[in-house]
Amino acid sequence: MKKTHLIAAACIALSQASAYAQSGNEVNIICSGQAPWCSMIAITFEKSQGIKVNMTLKGSGEAVAQLMAEKANPKTDIFFGGTGDPHLVAAEQNLTQEYKSPLLPKLYDWAQKQAAQSGYKTVGIYSGPLGFGYNTELMANKKLPIPKTWADLIKPEYKGEIQSANPSSSGTAYTMIATLVQLMGEDKAFDYLAKLHKNIATYQRSGVGPIKAVARGEAAISISFVHDGPGEKAQGFPLETITPSDGTGAEIGSMSIVRGARNLEAAKKFYDWALTPGAQALGAATLQFQLPSNRETKVDPRVPDFRKIKMIDYDYAKYGQSAERKRLIQRWERDVNGQSR
Ligand code: G6P
Repeated sequence: MKKTHLIAAACIALSQASAYAQSGNEVNIICSGQAPWCSMIAITFEKSQGIKVNMTLKGSGEAVAQLMAEKANPKTDIFFGGTGDPHLVAAEQNLTQEYKSPLLPKLYDWAQKQAAQSGYKTVGIYSGPLGFGYNTELMANKKLPIPKTWADLIKPEYKGEIQSANPSSSGTAYTMIATLVQLMGEDKAFDYLAKLHKNIATYQRSGVGPIKAVARGEAAISISFVHDGPGEKAQGFPLETITPSDGTGAEIGSMSIVRGARNLEAAKKFYDWALTPGAQALGAATLQFQLPSNRETKVDPRVPDFRKIKMIDYDYAKYGQSAERKRLIQRWERDVNGQSR
């Protein structure tokens, strides 16, 4: 393209951007899902609704830190995705605002409950169970048995073979701690986590990091949301998942509107749109296999079937309290991560 044409194209893009901004026809979103899904959501919403989307990708822990930093002068309108606990923390800290979408009655009870217990400052957009991912080729080469229970993971044969994430930055890892505390009682869970620590090769920053590493043969086993498995498998990696037969927890991925959002009307439009079956189907279209929260969203056969998994009755309200979350993460840093391997 000639230089003059490039300049003309840039001018059109700029005037378009300022037209969006002047009419309040834009929305600023922090997305804590995987990149392909976040991009597809931004493009589809922008094209179908004529509202410009400015999107940044951030882990859910970092997202809350940003909302806190921007509290006096918010630059974000929507916090989309990531585990539910940071959304509940944001609600408790008054960083997000109440909104009752007309789509609420269309959602599963777990998604509506998430909304109700936050005073309608957040809502469930998806759910997915915690379990293990494993690389079938590596496991066979190393003659490692497939772990079937939480208890299996602390066996000496798995030393250095497991990846998890760090709960300070990852909602997935926090869900693991909260699940184990609910399954075993707190002291036994921390004894277990200290033993598990001996078998862990690396704690990654993001929750999806370990299963990606396992898919690519960098480790044999990960502790992960099992809905992150089929997407790796679809890309040709030798990956399978399993949920522990002694019981497991799940996340309720959530969405919130920021208190003081500058583009409130656009934010509400996005929020309502994101709860529609059409928008929720973009997950599976980009190889994300959580269970969508709208009962009418088509469920891809690769979405884990909760009815076949031994689920605990996870107390989202308790483990979404900021003091409880902070306390458990600090205890993990001290009693587990601070110990030698
Ligand atoms: C992945 C999963 C999501 C989950 C998120 C949590 O993107 O697909 O279902 O909500 O991880 O991320 P985090 O890095 O906070 O563990």
